[in-house]
Amino acid sequence: MSSFDLILRGGTCVLPWGEAQADVGVRAGRIAALGDLRTAEAAEVIDCAGLHVLPGLIDPHVHLRDPGDPAVETIPTGTRAAVLGGITAVFDMPNTIPSITSQAALENKRAYVKGKAWCDIGFYVGAAKSNIGELAALEAEPDVCAIKVFAGSSTGDLLVEDDASLERVMRSGRRRICYHSEDEYRLQERKPIYAAGGPHRLHAEWRDVECAFLGTRRLMALARETGRPAHILHVSTAEELDYLKEFRDVGTVEVLINHLSQNDEAYDRLGGYAVMNPPIRAARHQEAAWAAVRDGTVDCIGSDHAPHSRAAKERPWPATAAGLTGVQTLVPLMLDHVNAGRLSLARLVDLMAAGPARVYGAVCKGRLAAGYDADFTVVDMKRQRTIEESWIASPCGWTPFAGQRCTGWPVMTVIRGRAVMREDEVLGTPEGQPVRFR
Ligand code: DOR
Repeated sequence: MSSFDLILRGGTCVLPWGEAQADVGVRAGRIAALGDLRTAEAAEVIDCAGLHVLPGLIDPHVHLRDPGDPAVETIPTGTRAAVLGGITAVFDMPNTIPSITSQAALENKRAYVKGKAWCDIGFYVGAAKSNIGELAALEAEPDVCAIKVFAGSSTGDLLVEDDASLERVMRSGRRRICYHSEDEYRLQERKPIYAAGGPHRLHAEWRDVECAFLGTRRLMALARETGRPAHILHVSTAEELDYLKEFRDVGTVEVLINHLSQNDEAYDRLGGYAVMNPPIRAARHQEAAWAAVRDGTVDCIGSDHAPHSRAAKERPWPATAAGLTGVQTLVPLMLDHVNAGRLSLARLVDLMAAGPARVYGAVCKGRLAAGYDADFTVVDMKRQRTIEESWIASPCGWTPFAGQRCTGWPVMTVIRGRAVMREDEVLGTPEGQPVRFR
């Protein structure tokens, strides 16, 4: 008789080839069997009847601010938020204080994370004009998910804005590069027009559609010329989504939960808590983002979890800090979108597990299949619950989605065979590991 460390029994599994009623057997942190395991033995059996078992969902875009300001977020608190929200791995951005742009900074972070992360974690390395010569070696480190280029300035001091430097970055290595795509020259040119301040919705006028679209046209022209694969993060305009369909040979696409769930109505409701880069825009862009989810243009969905203090969010615009929290609310909101009929659960898994694994080359992640890591997000598609700020684990303590009622909720997070969250309770000790990348 077969024996396992853990069996998830009787759930509806979202397999790469479709939904199936199946038990999942786990041995030594890996998926060892899928199917009817009623006669098998296991050290632990978890009843998943009435629940959906998804491959561990990944948030490929978080800013955990560590090193930075622990009153806002840290790796321990941000990864705790992740597992409470049903996320099994996060990819952490490099615009910390100081930025992650060198071997030494990467090694420090790697050593610091041991025993402190609740979920698995991949590390971005930031490109700067001063480290282009080191990028090829840095991207080859096994736990580096990608090089991140800020081609337009945002939070922090990372910036590579001119074509000559961007081309040098592209010619420096082989793996897919992730871009913050807003044209820096246009941002700076338009900044004085808005210096006097005004309502928060002016954020979307300053950093307008053409800022993002021009940034993406410039990057994709260089990507095609150099042949270097490009992942355009947080695509926010209908124009870019249309344009990027012509670049599937080199380009992949991320959209954010913020741009799917909100439009510029949010500025009146949320004030500074709607300000982010690239901005939340008019409803036609939100509709285009959903159309791009449906027609396959979009590869990944992320939260762009970007915590700031309440004081920084409440500064009058344009001094308002840009960025919204989201790692903990991403899965509930996406499940609610599934229940509202905006996408299927299979497409959610494609976007949040298989997609990031494919785009970033994560090893043994993103798929319910024998031999893959035993990472599971177990969800109750019928559970109704309201997002409350008291639930938020990030020290900054706020979410732009407070008060939103969701149908569908993550009830258990399992990482490499260990349940780390069950019914809102975080279990055990932080044993998150670096994700490995091809
Ligand atoms: O709104 C944003 N906030 N966009 C970014 O690109 C960076 C992020 C942050 O780190 O605050």
